[in-house]
Amino acid sequence: MSNLKDEVLSRRTFAIISHPDAGKTTLTEKLLLFGGAIRDAGTVKGKKTGKFATSDWMEIEKQRGISVTSSVMQFDYNGARVNILDTPGHQDFSEDTYRTLTAVDSAVMIIDSAKGIEEQTLKLFKVCRMRGIPIFTFMNKLDRQGRAPLELLAELEEVMGIESYPMNWPIGMGKEFLGIYDRFNNRIEQFRVEENDRFVSLNEDGEIDGDHTLKESGLYDQTLEEIMLLNEAGNEFSRERIANGELTPVFFGSALTNFGVQTFLESYLQFAPAPQPRQSTEGEIDPLSKDFSGFIFKIQANMNPAHRDRIAFLRICSGRFERGMNVNVPRIGKQIKLAQSTQFMADDRSTVNEAVSGDIIGIYDPGTYQIGDTLTTGKNQFQFERLPQFTPELFVRVTAKNVMKQKHFHKGIQQLVQEGAIQLFKTVKTDEYLLGAVGQLQFEVFEHRMKNEYNTEVLMERQGSKIARWVDGDEINENLSSARSLLVNDRYEKKVFLFENDFALRWFLDKNPDVKLYNPMDQE
Ligand code: G4P
Repeated sequence: MSNLKDEVLSRRTFAIISHPDAGKTTLTEKLLLFGGAIRDAGTVKGKKTGKFATSDWMEIEKQRGISVTSSVMQFDYNGARVNILDTPGHQDFSEDTYRTLTAVDSAVMIIDSAKGIEEQTLKLFKVCRMRGIPIFTFMNKLDRQGRAPLELLAELEEVMGIESYPMNWPIGMGKEFLGIYDRFNNRIEQFRVEENDRFVSLNEDGEIDGDHTLKESGLYDQTLEEIMLLNEAGNEFSRERIANGELTPVFFGSALTNFGVQTFLESYLQFAPAPQPRQSTEGEIDPLSKDFSGFIFKIQANMNPAHRDRIAFLRICSGRFERGMNVNVPRIGKQIKLAQSTQFMADDRSTVNEAVSGDIIGIYDPGTYQIGDTLTTGKNQFQFERLPQFTPELFVRVTAKNVMKQKHFHKGIQQLVQEGAIQLFKTVKTDEYLLGAVGQLQFEVFEHRMKNEYNTEVLMERQGSKIARWVDGDEINENLSSARSLLVNDRYEKKVFLFENDFALRWFLDKNPDVKLYNPMDQE
């Protein structure tokens, strides 16, 4: 058996955060090609077949054949083992998407250089930020005319509040894209130039010695000027600040033409963190410790429509997983044998026999686990810190269609809420049930599972989007509740106001300066 420490230190586990269409699938595919995990382009792309209707969840599940197996992809490159976790976009966006970010050690943010920062990227970025996850930025689609690079950096720093360090800099773009000036490796990488001639090394002053066709273009001089500006006025490179998530290294490139991707991957592997320690009820758990532990961050139900089984996604936080091992589930005080486990690849699901800290495995779940559960071995009974609560944005009022089915209805809701599939709120005055989610798909999954697993049809009345703000403290005048600022209890009996819109929130704060409200996603 090889050395656990070396194996763990070779792991790089990350998620790609982006807005739909920025190029996540294309970049993932190129990375997998480098790692030899797939042979043909188009393997990952397969998941995007069909623009499905959100209402048809079964259809989504069918279409998902590939998307599910590509939830986690693994490949080896230059001695590193890379785990990429998918963060679904479009209609698939849900709390799971956020929770995936609790299972990574770093994130890669892809930005479409013509569009700049978009809504979904910003949402996911905020979660990374609140967890202090290091972020690496890839400015994509340089083969197309986009926004000026300095403008993109300024937006990144202003909107996201993170400092940036361009590792390389584009020389032109679109039809005039000549390549990238690689500050870090002190060379120029030319676009659409054969491998042997692609790299041009630079002298100590960061310029090309002697004659070169690149020098004939005015873009070369312009780039040198911009580089000078970055050297003088830009941020300093700091490995420590990258690790703390305060500084993002920025790479320019074009995923589609596979340009700048390898340079990005190699620098990423150099600076991205290996598995990090995690907080638990017994202090920090060292990823190199030999006792196995991990936590569940996602439960995928109905992977196989013929069965009601589920797969729980487990992030290994210490030690080594071995098939058939016994683990403790401290929440329920039971021991379980992990006989069936799965490792995920881009084009296949294969049985995993061994995995170490940093890896993600799928374990068979007969209905035992909840999201956030800790698994330990030996005498260890600690629990990892609770997964953060994510502020729901969409709400529905829910009732059982058949009043005779109240018992099933309550049991189903209770279990799905505990599992973390959806959030439950009760109106303070009338005790009505409201469900909260971050994406529409969560409601559809809820409806489907209530029917199939709890034999209950539900009626869901859309309440639209609301701004949820928790009340700081226990005292609150219930008469402050109104249609535009509805007061509800969360599942822990904490008071929450649901505001109709931003205006209603500001109006409320203005009228009630003594009431202190907070957004759990701004905390930590
Ligand atoms: P996503 O997973 O983030 O949603 O994006 P995806 O990789 O599917 O890319 C979205 C579109 O952008 C695709 O166009 C893809 O080919 C294109 N794209 C990705 N990277 C680059 C790049 O570096 N340069 C250029 N010019 N285009 C890029 P598509 O295949 O036409 O699909 P669609 O637009 O019909 O969805």
